Amino acid sequence: MIPDILSPEFAADPYTGYRVLREEAPLFWHEATQSYLISRYADVEHAFRDPVFTTANYDWQLEPVHGRTILQLSGREHAVRRGLVAPAFRGAELRDRFLPVIERNARELIDEFRTAGTVELVGQFSAHFPINVIVDMLGLDRADHARFQRWYTSIIAFLGNLAQDPEIAEAGLRTRAELAEYMLPIIARRRAEPGDDLLSKLCHAEIDGTRMSDEDVKAFVSLLLAAGGETTDKAISALFANLLAHPDQLAAVRNDRSLIPRAFAETLRYSPPVHMIMRQPAEDVKVSGGTIPAGSTVTCLIGAANRDPDRYARPDRFDIFRDDLSTTSAFSAAADHLAFALGRHFCVGALLAKAEVEVGANLLLDALPELRPAAGFAPAERGLFTRGPAAVRMAFTPAA
Ligand code: HEM
Repeated sequence: MIPDILSPEFAADPYTGYRVLREEAPLFWHEATQSYLISRYADVEHAFRDPVFTTANYDWQLEPVHGRTILQLSGREHAVRRGLVAPAFRGAELRDRFLPVIERNARELIDEFRTAGTVELVGQFSAHFPINVIVDMLGLDRADHARFQRWYTSIIAFLGNLAQDPEIAEAGLRTRAELAEYMLPIIARRRAEPGDDLLSKLCHAEIDGTRMSDEDVKAFVSLLLAAGGETTDKAISALFANLLAHPDQLAAVRNDRSLIPRAFAETLRYSPPVHMIMRQPAEDVKVSGGTIPAGSTVTCLIGAANRDPDRYARPDRFDIFRDDLSTTSAFSAAADHLAFALGRHFCVGALLAKAEVEVGANLLLDALPELRPAAGFAPAERGLFTRGPAAVRMAFTPAA
């Protein structure tokens, strides 16, 4: 039987359901979300790479909560706006200017629990670290951390509200209004007195002689908070949950830190933070199992594609040493997992996320000797649009 992706059983274990979809219904019309589900690696890769699959659906899915972001754009306007933030997220600017910011943020959080002997990683580290980094990069006030965290959580809940819970929908719209109320005066100040931060850059960049509107700058910030906070948060938690569940691999990584990029890439394959991405084909398109009619909504199931046995040997095994996942190409257009999508909208923050996870994992492993699962270690995953461990309880022997 074809499982219902909105059922509690599916939420508890989507991977069993994904297998049924891949094998029996690789193109499946899902009535409740009014979308076609695709689940095979080749089909999801096709949907990400082929420009016939547009993001026109985001005009009604993202617009209400964010406003107009680069995810809705295409062509030159998309490339130019994406290019405003891209340099900060890679290369020399990331290394020389923002790596110290990443390190400082990780250390500050770790210092809070390094002598405690136990830590719950999600609540004490991952939920704070990436959002603090992006808030610092934008030049916003970290004293407002709790608000940023509440806002990005509410935006992601809105986007993942497949069952259309009215309370979640209202909270998302309230967040849009609150974020605008908070950001618009700050944007006005940055326009008058630019600083050396990413927000000032967004406020002053000219595209064909015109600046972005206040509303579009605010939408950009909204996207960066949500895209940069929620996803990397889940990636770090999942990395440690996976390693602690496989002590031999944890020991290998602890002893040879050059394995961290492998462990991160395998975590993104095995436990991708984003499970669902929607697209809308401009023309009829053939995929496994049939034709998707032009103009319909397609839900690309990343979690299913990343465990496709036609793509990976023993796909349900977490194995940082697998030879069908190279880590060198994982951040180029030829990525070999789909967690960052591919093509035009390939995650612009992928290298920032990689830097955050590598720095965070190294500093955690340095600070937490004899790291092991603590009592109550049972990192069940939660969520479906985005998914990650609800809690990761770890024990360690504090250095004397
Ligand atoms: C796009 C995943 C970290 C900013 C995307 C997309 C995915 C993704 C799947 C494609 C969305 C689509 O096509 O509809 C992830 C994962 C991350 C991560 C798994 C962490 C492990 C970050 C970070 C930032 C960021 C740290 C920056 C603060 C963005 C932006 C886009 C994007 C701005 C839109 C790109 C465009 O439309 O051209 N991300 N992301 N992401 N991501 Fe990430």
